[in-house]
Amino acid sequence: MTKVIDGKAISLEIKNELKEKAAALKAAGVTVTLAVIQVGNNPASTVYVNNKKKGCEYIGIESASFELPEETTEKELLSLIDELNTREDINGILVQLPLPKHIDEDKVIKAIDPKKDVDGFHPQSVGALCIGQPGFVSCTPAGIIELLKRSGIDIAGKECVILGRSNIVGKPMSLLMLRENATVTVAHSKTANLKEVTSRADILIVAIGRPKMVTADYVKEGAVVIDVGINRDENNKLCGDVDYDDVAPKCSAITPVPGGVGPMTIAMLLNNCLASIELK
Ligand code: GUN
Repeated sequence: MTKVIDGKAISLEIKNELKEKAAALKAAGVTVTLAVIQVGNNPASTVYVNNKKKGCEYIGIESASFELPEETTEKELLSLIDELNTREDINGILVQLPLPKHIDEDKVIKAIDPKKDVDGFHPQSVGALCIGQPGFVSCTPAGIIELLKRSGIDIAGKECVILGRSNIVGKPMSLLMLRENATVTVAHSKTANLKEVTSRADILIVAIGRPKMVTADYVKEGAVVIDVGINRDENNKLCGDVDYDDVAPKCSAITPVPGGVGPMTIAMLLNNCLASIELK
């Protein structure tokens, strides 16, 4: 029987733990505030940003919202970040991506004080993860580790193949799986004999951004399959990068889309917000 990993339930479990932590901080007189910046009104970003603000409210921390117009200049955004970096009452800074084309995302990410980098995107955070030092970890990969652990899936010694090499998911995911003592392969769109490579995986993590690309012939019998993709199929229905109906019968465990990895990202963001107090 295939186990369907319930990201919604696991994320709720984590949020309830964080709620208790936040209450203890509050009782000790500590207020935690996340600054959430959105530039322009990309509809998907608006949904994500609203969910992040709702998450803050749920666990009992503050959010400060900065909704900037599409025409905001890079200089204006950088100067807001400078101000938030110095403000004692702001613990975390989140700039929702993607940014409008006229703004250099790398410059913006680098401008955030690493002590407030709750997304874990700053080169210093990524470097710290790489050499095993304390720092913020990118939320989606951190959420996947929690999904696996809380589902009772052993990682140490397993063959893990990550399909996708983005800065936000694939690369930090490979570092985290390595930290958990998996044997890690990062495959991507240029990998030769891709099906042969992914079929080696005990744990296959797919973040390639192509709807339903991974079919049963990419997957070893009994593998754990984690689907990071969020796409729309030909009927405008949400779907992952994995062809769920084709792959699920072959796996020991799989994450659905929606309700798998997605809800974990926010839970780990909230976790990072509370951790910012310790890093401060
Ligand atoms: N856009 C898509 N995912 C993310 C995320 O995790 N953080 C931010 N800041 N922007 C995103």
